[in-house]
Amino acid sequence: MFQHIEPYAGDPILTLNEAFGRDPRTDKINLSIGIYFDDEGKLPVMAAVRAAEAQQLQAAGVRPYQPMEGAANYRQAVQHLLFGAEHEAVKSGRIATLQTIGGSGGLKVGADFLKRWFPDSAVWVSDPTWDNHRAMFEGAGFKVGTYPYYDAATGGLDFEAMLAAIEQLPARSIVLLHACCHNPSGVDLTHAQWARLIPVIARRGLIPYVDIAYQGFGDGIEEDAWAIRALAADRTAGTPISFFVASSFSKSFSLYGERCGALSVVCPDAAQAELALGQLRATIRRNYSSPPTHGGQLVARVLQTPALRAQWAAELDAMRVRIAALRQRLHSGLGERLRAAGDTRNIDYFITQRGMFSYTGLSATQVDRLREEHAVYLVRSGRMCAAGLNPNNVDAVAAALATVMLKD
Ligand code: PLP
Ligand code: LMR
Repeated sequence: MFQHIEPYAGDPILTLNEAFGRDPRTDKINLSIGIYFDDEGKLPVMAAVRAAEAQQLQAAGVRPYQPMEGAANYRQAVQHLLFGAEHEAVKSGRIATLQTIGGSGGLKVGADFLKRWFPDSAVWVSDPTWDNHRAMFEGAGFKVGTYPYYDAATGGLDFEAMLAAIEQLPARSIVLLHACCHNPSGVDLTHAQWARLIPVIARRGLIPYVDIAYQGFGDGIEEDAWAIRALAADRTAGTPISFFVASSFSKSFSLYGERCGALSVVCPDAAQAELALGQLRATIRRNYSSPPTHGGQLVARVLQTPALRAQWAAELDAMRVRIAALRQRLHSGLGERLRAAGDTRNIDYFITQRGMFSYTGLSATQVDRLREEHAVYLVRSGRMCAAGLNPNNVDAVAAALATVMLKD
């Protein structure tokens, strides 16, 4: 019956993470998957989340189904965090926000909705992007193309090429954008670049689809939402831009397995938001009916309890600052070793790239050598997760990188 089924090649990130788990070497270092580990190499449990959970257990009672769109307190908390409670788009009720199963669930629910109501549109993603973006949008039936983004020559952004490509897209093209902490490159647009891109999107009548899975890991919780707020405020075309935001709390609350995410659709007015919400509820009903309760309630409780929220914000700030310090340490450790060998190449991208990821520029062969000879795991594209560094492994990583980089 099933002989004709093609074997699944596996996901490049998750398969690698599984291989890391099976690796018997005790000095192995995981810089592959986008997960934040603490100084002991462990997943942190944030104190604010732990406190919220203790309160939650006290209050636990019956377990009804949630509505298709999720819990009202969670949806409101998400909106306020992304857009700011005082944003006109929030106050005028023109954003439809739904609780989803992780950021991934949000992306897919939005993709299915778009395929139903904009069947002739194509999707455009940055070159490169998170592998699952293409898989999800193709899975929803879309053609997926790329626009220029990462500039291998500088380890930065080729903004002019990106803008020129987006300027050529037909109206109603869906343009996937990373709000901050671009995965996999760590290369983001500056505010000035966003301010040039957004009017182009408005004039061309494009549909931005913003992915924000790392809010708080770039410049700060509010700062990282800048592009989303600017998109929602734009009036270049006379009317507001309609756009999608898939958001995730997996990293920012260290709640990976609880699958806490959301989809927000910013509409021209409240009546259209109601229409979008209705069809998104239908999309969810046909998929998994309704989201789970527990993790979302932890997030809502933290975000809506001032003391817990302040505690969470401080913890997340500390995570961001810590990654930046580890990036600095890696940069100087690697730089010293390269210079000692007479190699003066510029490796500043390790500190200019932001968030969890860096594109190291290493080839797949070099990544394989790092893994096989030094037990250091990166994704084969050369992506390194800086959130896997810690004071105990950063020197070993610098030494391994130097050895591999100096060999070619
Ligand atoms: N988008 C990007 C860019 C990601 O890196 C991730 C990572 O997990 C997601 C979306 C999905 O988030 P979640 O794990 O909450 O499904
Ligand atoms: C990553 O890119 O490593 C993370 O976003 C985890 C994942 O699901 O791929």
